[in-house]
Amino acid sequence: MSRIATLSTLALLAQSSIAGLIPRADQNFGKCTNPTIAYVEDQDGMAGFGYKPANLKDFPHGASADIVAITDYICSNLQNVCRAPAASYELCKTASTTAKGLKEKAAADAFNAAITTTPPSPSSAAPPVATPSLVTPKYSIHFSKEQVNFPGTIDPKWWFDQYFLDDGGDPARCKSGSHKMPEGRLLSFSCSGADRRIIPFMKIALNAAVTATIDNTTMKDEERFFKHWNNDFKDDEGEPFSVAVTTFPASVEIDVAIDIPNVGSAWSGSMKYSITEPTSNGCKMCSYLSTAGTTTSAGVKIAEVISETKDVLAKLVAPGAALGMAIVTLGCLTNCS
Ligand SMILES: *[C@@H]1O[C@H](CO)[C@@H](O)[C@H](O)[C@H]1NC(C)=O
Repeated sequence: MSRIATLSTLALLAQSSIAGLIPRADQNFGKCTNPTIAYVEDQDGMAGFGYKPANLKDFPHGASADIVAITDYICSNLQNVCRAPAASYELCKTASTTAKGLKEKAAADAFNAAITTTPPSPSSAAPPVATPSLVTPKYSIHFSKEQVNFPGTIDPKWWFDQYFLDDGGDPARCKSGSHKMPEGRLLSFSCSGADRRIIPFMKIALNAAVTATIDNTTMKDEERFFKHWNNDFKDDEGEPFSVAVTTFPASVEIDVAIDIPNVGSAWSGSMKYSITEPTSNGCKMCSYLSTAGTTTSAGVKIAEVISETKDVLAKLVAPGAALGMAIVTLGCLTNCS
């Protein structure tokens, strides 16, 4: 009976030693990782079987036949070198005691299983961190009165996804450079934000302006900032034919501001793109926007499209934050006289 019990205990220990090889991410060993013990043979001048730290980078120690020499060393390093929290040091002492009563590989397995269980979280005693509640991004989007027409049905979002990129610097900017578009035109971006998490907010808003307007034929024409349409002609025999066209504003500027309640911080940023050689003008759009202000259906639609990504954006702000419906104001960069 006791023999069966011993065997099953060993089987359990063997299983947990597998888990012991992959310490869980929520464990805190200070500056160090993986404080487990390897069971080794004929190493570092030691004859026969013994123990040594599995992670020699953080726990440099030769092999020893005595597991206590290794566990004492690991626990002391956790405290003095790794600066691990007290809870992890206590866990190490408990793991040492468990290992001391066992022999051979089972001793290392027991230590590893114990040290890789989750220590009591010190944050449970810490005062609760303020969680931002509802975060409302405010956007001001300005379009140029100049427009660019490209032959064919092209997707502006493809161009923006391809070339509107974070340059990785701090403060954040977007990658500079001009990118060849059809008809020999060039597309370039400029943007900035003190916190780089603002960049996805701007990119999502730019793409939302495309999604909200490009294919919606029931929307007022002067609100379709991006537009797929057909240019109708008659051939020499008077037969009608049409050519697909995609219209972009030659330039769009987006400013965003986000107040983060309970945390007392605010983010802001701005981005702008420009396409060279505009061919037509959107004066109708500009005079419409100057009178309609914030009440345009395009503005409402853009806010709705931004809101479809609210889970992604809220995670950028803070864990537990929720994103409210964006406030979108539209206008033109310059007015027509
Ligand atoms: C198209 O625009 C109209 C008018 O602004 C709006 O009511 C409708 O929801 C839009 N349709 C789509 C599919 O976005």
